[in-house]
Amino acid sequence: MSTLSKSALTGACTAVLIAVAACGTGAPAQDAKDAPQGGPPPMPAPVTLSSRPDAGPGEKLFIEKCVMCHGPNGMGTGLLARRMDVALLEEREDLPADYVIQAARMGIGNMPAIPRGEVSDADMQLIADYLASKTPRDMGGTMEGDTR
Ligand code: HEC
Repeated sequence: MSTLSKSALTGACTAVLIAVAACGTGAPAQDAKDAPQGGPPPMPAPVTLSSRPDAGPGEKLFIEKCVMCHGPNGMGTGLLARRMDVALLEEREDLPADYVIQAARMGIGNMPAIPRGEVSDADMQLIADYLASKTPRDMGGTMEGDTR
């Protein structure tokens, strides 16, 4: 009698295991957030100065100093995607220039502080103004045509 109930139990366990395994493969890779190889298969083309020949001064500096982490495939973009709806800094419409400067100079989360030896104050201001150019002025942005 115990043999029968034992095998019934084993059967039940196996079914549970299969269900768990199926769930594991079917669910989106939640735990892959720390695994760099977990990203979507096609790699976005890297942003370079030559891919944006018409870039203005702030945009050029952003490409030189920040895009390796804040480009479409950058780790800054990847980490910001965890807490922001818009992970690409260049697409943000809520990024005050002062905040950009502060984050870059002090460092923020996993981003190292960027010293003046690497990016001068003048250059950092240009980068910040560029990133704030989609942000309304009353939010600390530099959006043109917003005269409030
Ligand atoms: C070494 C990689 C790296 C470089 C280079 C880098 N960043 Fe970052 N940045 C990050 C990471 C990672 C985060 C996310 C921090 C976190 O949330 O843990 C971040 C976050 C930020 C944020 C915060 C956004 C928010 O909404 O809180 C700003 C602003 C920012 N970076 C600006 C810049 C600027 C400007 C430059 C170039 C001068 C730059 N970063 C260069 C890695 C980098």
